[in-house]
Amino acid sequence: MRRVLQGTAIVLVSVGFFAFMTNPPQDHEYQGVKKCGMCHKKDDQGAQLKVWEGSEHAKAFETLKSEESKKIAEEMGLSAEPWEAEECLKCHASGYQEGAAVDKKFKVENGVQCETCHGPGGDYVNLHRKADKLEEAYANGFVKFDDVEAECRECHNEESPTFPADGFDFAASWEKVKHPIPAGK
Ligand code: HEC
Ligand code: HEC
Ligand code: HEC
Ligand code: HEC
Repeated sequence: MRRVLQGTAIVLVSVGFFAFMTNPPQDHEYQGVKKCGMCHKKDDQGAQLKVWEGSEHAKAFETLKSEESKKIAEEMGLSAEPWEAEECLKCHASGYQEGAAVDKKFKVENGVQCETCHGPGGDYVNLHRKADKLEEAYANGFVKFDDVEAECRECHNEESPTFPADGFDFAASWEKVKHPIPAGK
């Protein structure tokens, strides 16, 4: 047993070290939807705040308080309430983890929010607004999407207890939640 544990420890240490080399430790603070929304709410800029507010993502935490959620959690034999269970929160909310770097204005109740997808903004908000600072923003927590569909499938997959039988229709789903800055702006 001891040998097994030691072996595991060595593997964990080396994996940890490798991760450290490729991806330096990051604990950027979450800023909250209000902060992002301050600058991303104007209609002629794409009204990202409004699009998000009208999406199911904004209600993802609230959903965990529904009767349906309680039933799912019961059937899965979870010991915690769904809105307190890691098994549900990991896809339905951001910043719930103990010790998460959470700014006072941040609300876990906002479910799947701007920073769930774009990354916690504490260190990029002041960088990401200028094209010549974008690379620096990416190095400070701002997510660069190489593959948007793959990003969605991190949560829209079979691990979701209510995953539709016909799977995840990326094109139709993106149509419902996309929030582009209009061309020429
Ligand atoms: C102080 C104002 C301000 C705040 C606060 C702000 N943004 Fe921005 N953001 C901007 C401006 C300005 C741009 C550039 C718009 C353009 O290119 O037309 C931008 C661009 C972006 C882009 C597109 C970047 C690109 O070029 O690929 C994303 C994504 C984004 N913001 C997300 C966020 C998120 C998430 C937050 C909250 C953590 C946030 N912003 C907070 C002003 C702000
Ligand atoms: C962090 C996890 C997460 C990510 C990443 C994510 N979603 Fe979701 N999404 C959810 C959850 C949870 C719900 C259910 C919300 C509810 O109904 O309470 C949802 C619901 C939706 C819905 C409404 C329900 C449906 O299936 O029609 C659409 C549309 C959607 N997401 C599109 C997307 C798209 C497109 C992406 C990628 C750009 C994406 N989502 C990324 C967690 C996520
Ligand atoms: C479910 C994940 C998700 C959520 C939630 C989300 N975004 Fe995005 N956002 C994306 C993706 C994916 C893109 C497209 C990136 C691309 O095409 O390269 C994007 C693009 C953007 C852009 C750039 C649009 C453009 O045309 O360049 C801005 C600005 C932005 N988001 C702001 C926000 C703000 C503000 C919020 C919260 C109110 C938010 N996003 C919530 C995933 C998300
Ligand atoms: C792997 C990510 C993931 C996990 C884990 C997850 N969900 Fe979800 N949940 C989603 C997504 C994505 C959707 C929307 C599409 C779908 O149903 O798969 C959703 C939708 C739902 C809905 C349906 C909302 C509606 O509008 O009908 C309920 C209820 C729900 N989830 C409850 C739960 C509960 C309770 C747990 C924990 C036991 C949980 N989910 C765990 C990703 C997840």
